[in-house]
Amino acid sequence: MILSIDQGTTGTTAFVFDSSGSLIGRSYSELPNYYPQPGWVEQRAEEIWQVTLRVCAAALERAGIAAPDLTAIGITNQRETTILWDRQTGEPVCPAIVWQCRRSADICRELADAGRAGWLRDKTGLVLDAYFSASKLLWLFRNQPELLQRARAGELCFGTVDSWLIWKMSGGRAHLTDHTNASRTLLYNLDEKQWDIELLDLFGCPESILPEILPSAGHFADTDPESFLGATVPISGVAGDQQASLFGQGCTRPGAIKNTYGTGCFMLTYAGSERPQLPEGLLATIACDAAGQPVYAVEGAVFTAGSAVQWLRDEMGLIQQAAETEMIAQGVPDTRGVYLVPAFSGLGAPHWDSSARGTICGLSRGAGRAELVRATLESIVYQSDELARLMGEALGLPISHMRVDGGASANNFLMQFQADISALRVERPRQIESTAVGAALLAGIGAGIWRAGALPESLLDIERDFLPKMAADERERLVAGWRRAVAACRAF
Ligand code: G3P
Repeated sequence: MILSIDQGTTGTTAFVFDSSGSLIGRSYSELPNYYPQPGWVEQRAEEIWQVTLRVCAAALERAGIAAPDLTAIGITNQRETTILWDRQTGEPVCPAIVWQCRRSADICRELADAGRAGWLRDKTGLVLDAYFSASKLLWLFRNQPELLQRARAGELCFGTVDSWLIWKMSGGRAHLTDHTNASRTLLYNLDEKQWDIELLDLFGCPESILPEILPSAGHFADTDPESFLGATVPISGVAGDQQASLFGQGCTRPGAIKNTYGTGCFMLTYAGSERPQLPEGLLATIACDAAGQPVYAVEGAVFTAGSAVQWLRDEMGLIQQAAETEMIAQGVPDTRGVYLVPAFSGLGAPHWDSSARGTICGLSRGAGRAELVRATLESIVYQSDELARLMGEALGLPISHMRVDGGASANNFLMQFQADISALRVERPRQIESTAVGAALLAGIGAGIWRAGALPESLLDIERDFLPKMAADERERLVAGWRRAVAACRAF
């Protein structure tokens, strides 16, 4: 039995898989996010831990087993979110600064003005953007100098959510991360595959606060029975959620591509052992090979996708449940020319524009709820399409098919529109929680339950293909409208 924990931006899900790959228990709970200022996003690290512990217990109960029955645990997580805690007490010393938070945009501008963007890109494969952890850390150190003092004195630990959970589950014994998560911090040297002293200097980050980096499959730590449900179980798989889903989709050959429709949209292509040379706008990052060892991938990250549907529900009150959007969108022939650009946290790939903000364009008197709902779903597709086009250019050939996963991939309207707008075959697996599947597979490999190349087939089966049906001129007309809407949102 393997417990796979998917700690995401809006909630945690725990899954229990048996050794044949069958899902036998599952539990989900939402996680509060806080928005103290426009563009800021925070969480409470203690709430991340409590929600996670609770869903693990509930998933085990649904599976009809207890924690001591587990053979291994896999952890996958929202990446980049920055947590600092007290090494002695294990108490967080500040809010968790979420990947979407733009508070450190000025720091990034300052570093860009000092000519650091190209240098950082060479070292890390990343763009100089507030998305990644390092500028969030520097923001904390500048705004709360006592934290810097304490960090220098060796009293604090830094970690992304994987490190935090490993720390809590091991009763404060292990301060670890994996290469995929480390590669998202702007502190990790992509060629040397380790923390980089020059990057630490640039962001004023004392080395002592950093976790040790391990490959994604292997023994990380054992859980401490007093901290974790009365059991000692090895944590043997750890990966950032997007790399976990790439692995869980079976994408371990060069050119294999997936798009995950979650809070944001994340498109990754497996590159292999050679670091890819990329156009501006795309990221080079670390992924896992078939044995869970660090290799390279190409990534495009869209900041707001599923969270725009949440916004329709929570802020606009236009829907009661995300699932309603499929029927509402299908109930109208088009958006009547309405475009919604959900740049609530600026724009990610390929624009990397922190100052862009959400915009609705093309409203006419007849446009109503259904058109706005449809425009919101379409925005997810257009943003992903921008990535697919750039990714195709980077690989030197158009992409013909793409695996999809994540909660919103269940939306048939969305998948068909993606196939139409991007003119590619969209393949949806039976188990769309590929992130959790990936973490379970890594944990299974790490614990010696499964072997690389001989994984349970049931986890990778395709449930449905969506084929492109839209005429090319219609597609280009719609995409041209989207580009005008993006320009408007950046000019605002
Ligand atoms: O890079 C951010 C990403 O890891 C967040 O994923 O699933 O919480 O949208 P998710």
